[in-house]
Amino acid sequence: MPPSSDAPVLAAGVDELAAEVAEGLTRPAKRLPSKYLYDALGSQLFEAICELPWYRITRGERALLARERATITAPLGNRASVIELGGGNGEKLAILIEALVERGARVETHLVDISPTALDLSARTLGGYPRVSIRCHAAAYLEGLGEAVREVDGDHPCLALFLGSNIGNLGPAESNRFLRAIRSRLRRGDMLLLGADLVKSEEDLILAYDDPLGVTAAFNANLLVRLNRELDADFDLAEFDYRAVWNAGASRVETYLVSRSEQTVCLPRAGCCIRLAAGEAIWTESSHKYERAEIADLGERAGFARREQWVEPESKFALTLFDVR
Ligand code: TRP
Repeated sequence: MPPSSDAPVLAAGVDELAAEVAEGLTRPAKRLPSKYLYDALGSQLFEAICELPWYRITRGERALLARERATITAPLGNRASVIELGGGNGEKLAILIEALVERGARVETHLVDISPTALDLSARTLGGYPRVSIRCHAAAYLEGLGEAVREVDGDHPCLALFLGSNIGNLGPAESNRFLRAIRSRLRRGDMLLLGADLVKSEEDLILAYDDPLGVTAAFNANLLVRLNRELDADFDLAEFDYRAVWNAGASRVETYLVSRSEQTVCLPRAGCCIRLAAGEAIWTESSHKYERAEIADLGERAGFARREQWVEPESKFALTLFDVR
């Protein structure tokens, strides 16, 4: 993306950040939108999380993609269109692209992400392959998907990817609505490859979201650093602890920044000051964990037909491939 187009995107972004943060922090149960975790430093910290021995999602998913790449890409034939929603650094997509390129296919890739940094990283990862074109859509998932599908050349099938644990960050009703919206933008013959993390022991889940090196804690605290920088806020980092909790009833890991003392924090550019009690938590994210059958069910209730499902046994992570019929 040329530097000249960055300025208006960032300016509009700050208003939205201010409005959403003010809304979240003035609720009775305070929360911060997790999408704002991924500024430049946050994206790097998340890359580091993916390398942690305790966070097995990324490694497990890569292993599955490498193992099943021929099966996943076979239905695409020799003119493949692949659309990735929220692809991070593009390394997972590259595994599938390589399989296509090796068998001589022409590939059209569409990268959809609201973060220009992520688009840049992915485009760089995918830049070197022959017969592969790259289109970046700096947009929210659904808007970018709609745009990409309209641009897909010809009537050959396309494969949409929603990988990692992204679906897990939506609640049950939200994920159904989201998958339906994806379904309505795809055409008959298209496919969706969906990543989802499975339920495992509480010990493993907590280690994955509250690692002994403190990288995940830093990743969350960086959100406060971002608000200090972009909204002129005065969060004192020493006054917050990071906490991850397994909520078995709702089958999700919940992450929080917890106030260590009674304090007031002001966010001038969001137009608010907030009071926090000692021990009061600000919710940053929920990460749902699924049973295998639940994932297939989630897709089927949104109008997809399950084609295949693979599970990586070490990480207990699943990839499910759906057809649009
Ligand atoms: N959303 C991802 C997940 O659920 C990324 C993530 C890892 C994350 N650790 C986190 C998000 C801690 C918030 C807090 O796996």
